[in-house]
Amino acid sequence: MPNQFDIEIDRRAVPALKTHNIVLGEGGENLFPAGVADMDFLAPPPVRKAMQVRLDHGVFGYETVPNALMPALTGWMHSRHGWEINPSHILRSPNVLNTLAIAASIFTEAGDGVIVQPPVFFDFYDILQENGREILRNPLILQDGRYTMDFAGLERLAARPNAKMIYLCNPHNPVGRVWAHAELRMLGDICARHNVLVVSDEIHGDITFEGHAYTPFASLGPAYADNAITCLSPAKSFNIAACCSAIAVVSNDARRKAFQVENSRLTVNKNNAFASAAMTAAYADGGPWLDEALEYLAGNVALVRAALAPLDAVQMIEPDGTFLLWLDFRAMGLMPEELTRFLREKAGWAVTRGQAFGVEGEGFARLNIACTRAKLKAALTQLTAALSNFKTETTK
Ligand SMILES: Cc1ncc(COP(=O)(O)O)c(C=O)c1O
Repeated sequence: MPNQFDIEIDRRAVPALKTHNIVLGEGGENLFPAGVADMDFLAPPPVRKAMQVRLDHGVFGYETVPNALMPALTGWMHSRHGWEINPSHILRSPNVLNTLAIAASIFTEAGDGVIVQPPVFFDFYDILQENGREILRNPLILQDGRYTMDFAGLERLAARPNAKMIYLCNPHNPVGRVWAHAELRMLGDICARHNVLVVSDEIHGDITFEGHAYTPFASLGPAYADNAITCLSPAKSFNIAACCSAIAVVSNDARRKAFQVENSRLTVNKNNAFASAAMTAAYADGGPWLDEALEYLAGNVALVRAALAPLDAVQMIEPDGTFLLWLDFRAMGLMPEELTRFLREKAGWAVTRGQAFGVEGEGFARLNIACTRAKLKAALTQLTAALSNFKTETTK
């Protein structure tokens, strides 16, 4: 039997963002579509089956949350990540970005500062700008090919009178760090000292590679949980971004109440029947599928590592987790827009330009490796050829 992840699915059969010209741009239909952060793989069989069963029921009137959803979620978090969540602390939300936005809008005020650690997921900036919050930037430190947090910088920013919140990305999109226990503790202690609320986006938490365990920030202990809003979602782990909703875990009673009031005010408290079915099945029965997907992704990382190792022009930042690889092209000496053009026009790659994640991302690109190995292999051959031509041209 062929490996299920080797099956090529035509994403253009539906209006998938990754292959749409909204993302690929005019004339981009033949590019290697590796920008948008979802997987090209079929969703886990138990998820598809649960959705089919729900479809076959045939009545789609208003619904509440299925009884099995919360035990499936808490069971998953406990067995997989050692985090005991009190079910009464869980709130549903439409998606993770919406949770981040609501958290900023109810727990900070216009002009307040929210700390981010670039290079970081570009939507963080958009949300904060659109909500009129000051973006307090604490860039990560890149040393010997590995990113770490600048704790001294964090302490300085957190001490500012208007610093009220931090958007933590755990694991970190795009640099692939799965933050270690000790790092999260340091961050949590600094934030607690300065009354900075930790809003932790943990959407990539399930996707980690050997030797790197994801630590939910709130699992560090009750005091950390009390100062946290955790955003969870099965969207990335099970490739169901278009048919699931998200989860906010809020331990602090007053903050949870405030969240509920805001959700009610915005009427974002409806339940989608297919999201409920997909999420319940994913958390209850998706584990074996995810294990296989992680093995396949690790194989794809190994492929990229081997292909890029002999090349001087590009360095792969070794990922602890996520299916997003952060590639360092700074040795090419190109301006950011020139690099974007080179990757698109010479290598045929539609990847996410590094500068979208902040100025720290200039000279980098984010490559999504959650595609078939054959497709990735072809894309790497294209890149190698393009870099070889580039080298010949620049040494003429
Ligand atoms: C770190 C991070 N947070 C949030 C999202 C989007 O989450 P949602 O679709 O639930 O809003 C993404 C998607 O790429 C992401 O990488």
